[in-house]
Amino acid sequence: MDFAAAFKHKVTRVETGLDRYVPAATTRPTRLHEAMRYSLLGGGKRLRPVLALASAEALGLTDESALPAAVAIECLHTYSLIHDDLPCMDNDDLRRGRPTVHRQFDEATALLAGDALLTEAFIILSVHYASRPTLAQALTRELADAASSRRLIGGQMEDLLAEKKSTATAKELEFIHLNKTAAMIEAAFVMGGLCAEAPQSALSVLRTVGHHVGLAFQIIDDVLDATADTATLGKTAGKDAKADKTTFVKLHGIETSRRLAHEHGQAAQSTLRSLPGDAAFLHALIESMAARIN
Ligand code: IPE
Ligand code: IPE
Ligand code: MG
Ligand code: MG
Ligand code: MG
Repeated sequence: MDFAAAFKHKVTRVETGLDRYVPAATTRPTRLHEAMRYSLLGGGKRLRPVLALASAEALGLTDESALPAAVAIECLHTYSLIHDDLPCMDNDDLRRGRPTVHRQFDEATALLAGDALLTEAFIILSVHYASRPTLAQALTRELADAASSRRLIGGQMEDLLAEKKSTATAKELEFIHLNKTAAMIEAAFVMGGLCAEAPQSALSVLRTVGHHVGLAFQIIDDVLDATADTATLGKTAGKDAKADKTTFVKLHGIETSRRLAHEHGQAAQSTLRSLPGDAAFLHALIESMAARIN
């Protein structure tokens, strides 16, 4: 398998879907739709939507019916980035290699563009799966749970509460990472499985894989924040230390963080082996993620 070509092909499908399913920039109010599309279509690794497509395909799906779910996940993820960058949150100027939405437009527009992308994710699910109500319900439930106050938002809340906290524990840090980041990655795996009408046993394998991939992904993000440069990341490097965030690097140091990321990557790979179907692309994708810090 030519992994790079297969990955690129999936990214192209996702980006075509994003362009097609999200309102045009000429839709009134144009400033809002321009801001939504600016953040959505201006780069990004597209990891979560590609994971959703790949999980569906591993379980035998051969048509494009997982694409709206993949697009919905990316809309929701992008909203979380716009809000994460706001001055009241991480106060970042750069995202995906370009000025953040509140820098390019203004704070109120960034807030509203985030709100709109969050809402759009659920519009996409309800419109594109209208003829399959059981699937629509399951996808909506999965995405809403991942984005909820118990998961993504809860993780973001505790991330902020743990800033400049010298007493944060490894357990608290795990809560933050499991929720602000792993929740959406788990949802991507599971939503792919739901689109393929996978049995409960396969969905639970996907959830466990997503848990480990999600933790590995955020640990790697923490390591890269401390070790990579701004040009490579497309976002400001070194900002976690500056804000005194509670990260894996702060609590465990770079070398232990690398090892922990590696261990979660291995746990994901070995769990994935019990998935029925052809998971070769997923194995290669997890491998390539881990390689970001090698
Ligand atoms: C950034 O996610 C936020 C984290 C959970 C670390 P990504 O690193 O996937 O960002 P994009 O989508 O590629 O820009
Ligand atoms: C963000 O974590 C997680 C979400 C956006 C939900 P970070 O704050 O570490 O992400 P980056 O480093 O800004 O992308
Ligand atoms: Mg943050
Ligand atoms: Mg941030
Ligand atoms: Mg980060």
